[in-house]
Amino acid sequence: MPRQTFANINLAAVLHNYHQAQQAAPHSKTMAVIKADAYGHGMLAIAQYLQQVADGFAVAFIDEAITLREHGITQPILVLEGAHQPVDLTLALEHDLWMVVHQPEQVIWLLSALAAGQPIPTLWFKVDTGLHRLGLTVAQLDHALASLPEKTLENAVLMGHFACADEPKNGFNGLQMERLTQVASTYQLPISMANSPAIAADPMSHGLWNRLGIALYGAEPMNQTSQHTCTLSLQPVMQLTAAIIGLRHIKQGEGVGYGQTWHANRDSVIATLAIGYGDGYPRHAPTGTPAWLHGQTIPLVGRVSMDMITFDVTDVVESLAIGDNVELWGQHLSVTAVAKHVQTINYELLTRISHRVTKKYHYN
Ligand SMILES: Cc1ncc(COP(=O)(O)O)c(C=O)c1O
Repeated sequence: MPRQTFANINLAAVLHNYHQAQQAAPHSKTMAVIKADAYGHGMLAIAQYLQQVADGFAVAFIDEAITLREHGITQPILVLEGAHQPVDLTLALEHDLWMVVHQPEQVIWLLSALAAGQPIPTLWFKVDTGLHRLGLTVAQLDHALASLPEKTLENAVLMGHFACADEPKNGFNGLQMERLTQVASTYQLPISMANSPAIAADPMSHGLWNRLGIALYGAEPMNQTSQHTCTLSLQPVMQLTAAIIGLRHIKQGEGVGYGQTWHANRDSVIATLAIGYGDGYPRHAPTGTPAWLHGQTIPLVGRVSMDMITFDVTDVVESLAIGDNVELWGQHLSVTAVAKHVQTINYELLTRISHRVTKKYHYN
């Protein structure tokens, strides 16, 4: 019997969430962002399942895109970081990938390829509208578009990326949009700006293409301090579960786990689960981080170790047995709620689930 620790992936929920995003932006195409192993959900499985409906996919770098092509994905694939080196342009052509141009060096590589008589792939031009991570300045874009032959711009898209889309009231969103739309109107090019929170909350940001990431996986896209919850009706896709492999009674005053960081203030029952930081469960999850067992919330106690974590199950009403399944996050307890306890974001918890955790795919 394999270890009973699973990431249960509800594929019907992926489809539901994709449709929710489409309905929120009916005039846009929706690109499913499946980088980082589809935010920990399994890139190939998600792509294969969504391929009949998704307008396209986005990944971070070319290795991810080539893996998709090698497994028969035929939809448009956008490489968000574009070429890291000149050879990536040749690979992009070979595998029919769309490449983001965000750095003047990439324009030089394109011009060299053209000078050598090579065709070049479909290009999206990224404008730095204020995030200051990737993107051309307007002057660099002007220069790029002036130096590339007109026909290379036939299917071009101008893209930008929000810094604060998860705070819908943040004025910086409007400023970034204004900067992108201004350049787009100069060049009469379509745009792509909206990510999950903007798809949900900012129709003005919807472009020819929107890029749907975290909401595809049914996790809350809004910043928890923004006092704004998502209007899409999302269904959580991942349920992370682990079985109880140890149960013990300890006396008041006894400590649990490495460093004895938690001591029982009453006689207590401790359940040990077969999951730890070696599986991607966050090591810095503090005492009190919740899980869900037999219809009740239970608190983590003591330090997270590599393969195990411990919960105080003294107050669980139902009788407990070895093999009982605990939900670390999922339908009953959102990954966002857990992330808040761990002082991180749902994106990080999802993407950190390691390959050691078996994924089980469910179709309904
Ligand atoms: C360039 C780009 N577009 C879109 C997305 C998707 O964002 P979200 O997961 O917030 O929908 C990301 C995610 O990091 C991104 O880097």
